[in-house]
Order: sequence, then C-alpha cells, then structure tokens
Amino acid sequence: MPRNIIIDTDPGQDDAVAILLALASPDEIEVLGITAVAGNVPLPLTAKNARIVCELAGRTDVPVFAGCEAPIARKLVTAEHVHGRTGLDGPDLPDPTMSLQDTHAVDFIIDTLRAQPPGTVTLCPLGPLTNIATAFTRAPDIVSRVQEIVLMGGAYFEVGNITPAAEFNIYVDPEAADIVFGSGAPLVVMPLDVTHKALVTKARNDAFRALGTPVGIAVAQMTDFFERFDKEKYGSEGAPLHDPCVTAYLLRPDLFSGRHINVEIETTSDLTLGMTVADWWRVTDRAPNALFIGQLDAQGFFDLLTERLARL
Ligand code: RIB
Ligand code: CA
Repeated sequence: MPRNIIIDTDPGQDDAVAILLALASPDEIEVLGITAVAGNVPLPLTAKNARIVCELAGRTDVPVFAGCEAPIARKLVTAEHVHGRTGLDGPDLPDPTMSLQDTHAVDFIIDTLRAQPPGTVTLCPLGPLTNIATAFTRAPDIVSRVQEIVLMGGAYFEVGNITPAAEFNIYVDPEAADIVFGSGAPLVVMPLDVTHKALVTKARNDAFRALGTPVGIAVAQMTDFFERFDKEKYGSEGAPLHDPCVTAYLLRPDLFSGRHINVEIETTSDLTLGMTVADWWRVTDRAPNALFIGQLDAQGFFDLLTERLARL
C-alpha cells in the first residue's frame, strides 16, 4: 500500500533529486500532488522547475500547483547564488509542456487533507514553510488529519547556511516555521546536521552519470553545478543532497537516526532570526515536538538513490 504524500518544494537542484526519487518509487510512494513555493528562486520559476522535473521523470500525470509567492510576513530572500538564475542550472532541460493546475497550492493542500481519510497523507516540505503554514492557518481542522510532516530544514550542530544562525528554508519564512513546528502535527526534521553528511562525492556523482540515462546524466549535471557553493564555502567533498533525505526517509527510515526533542523557532531577534533552537541535550522542560535527525548511513542512502534513479 503506497504512502500518500504531497511534496511542497522550491526546486532547486536538490529538490529535483528528492522529487525524482519519489517518482521512481511508486510501490512505496504515491505523489498526490506537487505544490510549488517561493524560495530558492521566485514562484514562477519554482512552479516551472517542478514541471520540468515531472517531465524528466516521464510523470506528467502528477498535478503541479503554484502556491505562495512570498513569505507570510517578510520580503522573499532567494538563493540564486547557490542554485543559479533558473534555480535548476546545470542540465539543459526543455521548458515544460504540462500546465499548472488552476487550483492554488494552499487550496489543494486543504482540500486533499479534508478529502483523504484522517492520518493517510504525509506532507513533505522541501522549501520555506509558507504554503503549509498558510493552509494550517486558513483551515486549522486539517492539522489533526496530517499523518506526518517530514521536512528538510533547520540546523543545530551545523548552525546556519544563510546566516551564522539560520538554515535557508526556515530563515526565509520563520513565522511559517513557527506555525508548523507549533502545530502539534507529528514532525520529522532533516536539518543540516544530517544533510551535510549526504555528500555527493565524485565517485557518487560518476555513478549517477554512469547510469547513462537522461535522468542520471541530468542529476550529475545538477550536482556539478550545485556543489560549487558548498565546496567553496565548507571545503566539503561534494554537494550536500539536503532534500532527498526527506524522500529517502520515507523509503528507508532505518538509514537515519535522531532524537525526539523540543525545537523552537526564533522569530524576533535580528541576530538569530530563523534559528531552530533544538533542545538536543534536553536541558529544558519544553515538550518534544520533533524527531530531529542527526545521522544517516550515507553509502546506504546513495546506493538507494542510485538504484531508484536507474528505474526512471
Ligand atoms: O538549506 C538547504 C535548503 O534550502 C534546501 O531545501 C535547498 O533546496 C534550499 O531550499
Ligand atoms: Ca529546497
């Protein structure tokens, strides 16, 4: 029985790989829809890139919805310096022919959670949490119907990647993150602490390219482009595949480990805005609200990813 999910995303090369991994795993994952949000690049581009990825996977049957074009209470901050002007720099992929759905992404999220039996839809946010938080605010009744939220965002030991204190997805819309982390929905968080251990080394990227398929070659080209930011900044061995950790967790949770702890979001201090204050050492009496992942079996992750990408 596949798990029903909605992928909320701001593609972004790593979002693209997360989407491809999900679409390559139809026995385990049913993608009810993909909702685009402004983040790495503005909404028109994230909504376009999501469709480019569906077409690359040969899955134009998956409905794609455009969502919020700006954070709840702040100006949009984008990351072209990481992902390039298009948000999907690297491969030269054709413009999409499939069209966007007319329904707004927030309405799709609300309608789907109300239509599906309670506890049967997992939300997989891979970008700023604007769409999710807007849906929860507009329709509080849907929160208890969510099976689980498995998101990429935040950091504790790794601290920030867009400011000294904050990870990008949370930093772009901290008010939205505060709503989601405080919603009471079951939450699994993939922070930089674990995604910085999912590095596409040269050997791993060569394995993608060696698939020889349009998908394998496109993923290798995305990584060739996407890795230069992290290699320069962190001196790391390769690109951290942040968002695919979310999809891989749905397929093989045994590859990951973490702690069920309290995580709060800084929404007022300019100095630490967007910081995920994770009580990893349980020094407060604040109630645990998230499974905060710290470790993964990196080679197991890449073996899974490469094997699945080969199917497309
Ligand atoms: O900080 C990494 C996150 O920000 C990833 O989701 C990446 O795609 C960007 O959205
Ligand atoms: Ca993303």
